[in-house]
Amino acid sequence: MPDQHTVLFVCLGNICRSPLAHGIFQHLVDHSNLADKFHIDSCGTGDWHVGNPPDPRSIQTASIYGIDITHQRARQFNPTTDIECFTYIIPMDASNKKNLIKLGVPEPKLTLMRAYDPTLKTPQDVPDPYYGGDDGFDKVYQMLTRACQGLLDYIDHETHAQRT
Ligand code: 4NP
Repeated sequence: MPDQHTVLFVCLGNICRSPLAHGIFQHLVDHSNLADKFHIDSCGTGDWHVGNPPDPRSIQTASIYGIDITHQRARQFNPTTDIECFTYIIPMDASNKKNLIKLGVPEPKLTLMRAYDPTLKTPQDVPDPYYGGDDGFDKVYQMLTRACQGLLDYIDHETHAQRT
């Protein structure tokens, strides 16, 4: 078993969805006293926003739920390092997944974010809220919270299965 579970959330711009997923998952991990067992990051397949903080609407939505994502800075997916560094590479939607496959990520490393939502029978996309209104961000937050909890439960289950 690896010393740390490595999880990379991926969207297009790395300013709306994946920074929120990163913040929510880090929050759940911290509150489960598992921070030292995880390395968590996020990135985008595009480079338009590299170096920028998350979209103000993502920052605001996270802060309503007590999560601070202001320190995050957008970066672009780096095939040379990220494929090797991360066990779980988690695209927010099918288009992000397609982009990652084109960039050389082996398909078994890729699981759509909402595949971890136990309330869904088939995984759906996390919709891009960038061009919509503020309520889109709250909807995305709720989807991500369910999926992040499912992901944590999944990794916990996998870890125990490997030990037995
Ligand atoms: P994200 O949203 O992929 O959830 O960060 C987007 C943010 C910016 C752009 C596209 C999607 N953009 O085209 O600039």
